[in-house]
Amino acid sequence: MLIIAHRGASGHAPENTMAAFRLALDMNADGLELDVHQTKDGEVVICHDDDVKRTTNGQGLIQDMTLEELQRLDAGSWYGERFRGEKIPTLHEFMALIAETRLLINLEIKNLPFYYKGIEEKIVRTVLEHDLLERVVISSFDHYVLAAIVELEPRMKLGLLFGTSKSEPWSYVEQLPFRAYSLHPHYTVVNEEYIARSHSQGYKVYPYTVNERAWAEPLAIAGLDGVITNYPDRFL
Ligand code: G3P
Ligand code: MG
Repeated sequence: MLIIAHRGASGHAPENTMAAFRLALDMNADGLELDVHQTKDGEVVICHDDDVKRTTNGQGLIQDMTLEELQRLDAGSWYGERFRGEKIPTLHEFMALIAETRLLINLEIKNLPFYYKGIEEKIVRTVLEHDLLERVVISSFDHYVLAAIVELEPRMKLGLLFGTSKSEPWSYVEQLPFRAYSLHPHYTVVNEEYIARSHSQGYKVYPYTVNERAWAEPLAIAGLDGVITNYPDRFL
């Protein structure tokens, strides 16, 4: 079972910062999950919310700020004084770190409620430039953006994110105009049957956000492919 650090090792460091990603690497996580948005001047950056208020000392929407404006913000001290000076990373910066490792990447496109024009091309280009096609799964709650990605790069692995309302996605996924690689359900809908059904249709299962080892253990035996967790250290 793969251990994928959610927003980096976000249980121990400020989410979606290079500190959180490096910590997950030090903890021997198998992979990293990250969330991306696009700035006013078209840079792909890593942050969960579309607004910087919660995770930096600034405020405003990412789509209304330039990269330079964003990188003046402190993305670490809200979490703890020792993380002061952490910045909102760019996707390029992140990929440069990853290319030096063997980590798997789950890149989540945050394309709702805003549509980031052209983000698909930039992401595909960045993955290819860093020669990471084999190690990346691109996921989103917005399945249209995944369709756009596969149009650009048919080899890209795609993960379908679902909230709690879609507890039985199997006929839906077969009707999509593209073939997904994995299902990324909310962990509360996952059980042995969910795993067996998904596997019988050829999909891997990566639930989020799994923070309890006791929950994952029986499902690991049932063949669960991975967990997306804030605490990779609890599973390794
Ligand atoms: O990709 C899994 C998980 O990150 C989806 O929800 O809100 O944490 O990005 P969220
Ligand atoms: Mg996410």
